[in-house]
Amino acid sequence: MPIDRFLQIPEEQLQPEEAGLLTKAREAALSAYAPYSKFSVGAALLLENGEVITASNQENAAFPSGLCAERVALFYAGSRFPGVALKSIAVAVLSDKKEKDRVYAPCGACRQVMAETENRQNQPFKIIFEGPGNLITYCNGIEPLLPFSFKLSTE
Ligand code: THU
Repeated sequence: MPIDRFLQIPEEQLQPEEAGLLTKAREAALSAYAPYSKFSVGAALLLENGEVITASNQENAAFPSGLCAERVALFYAGSRFPGVALKSIAVAVLSDKKEKDRVYAPCGACRQVMAETENRQNQPFKIIFEGPGNLITYCNGIEPLLPFSFKLSTE
């Protein structure tokens, strides 16, 4: 069912590459350190050189010191493979206490970091995210998730 510029699709309709990435994101959620929220998130990135990077959310007793799965993954990719473009990111949520049929979309801070990644590489990447009930949402590029985003010139 199309929602504006997002698509909500059953898992079987994902391309094999994206389905594989989503599986990696689900696996990554198992490594979350989320004792406070009990909300485990996994992210998997596919880079243009074929590397797959996975990460999970890491919380802290001083709450703002924790970090979302997406940013752990994106910052790791930027430091380990600078200049290598991101092709796709998949994000999966694991939680028993959350409603199964809800969409859990990346938070605003992660969208801003995705926007920076897109600007930096000057090409969009696919974004796939799912909630605990495996409802999959898909979009191409950050613009549908973060229209009119903040940018600075690097010149
Ligand atoms: N979280 C993510 O990892 N990604 C998001 O996009 C939203 C929220 C994490 C942060 C925190 O550890 C937990 O989910 C609850 O907010």
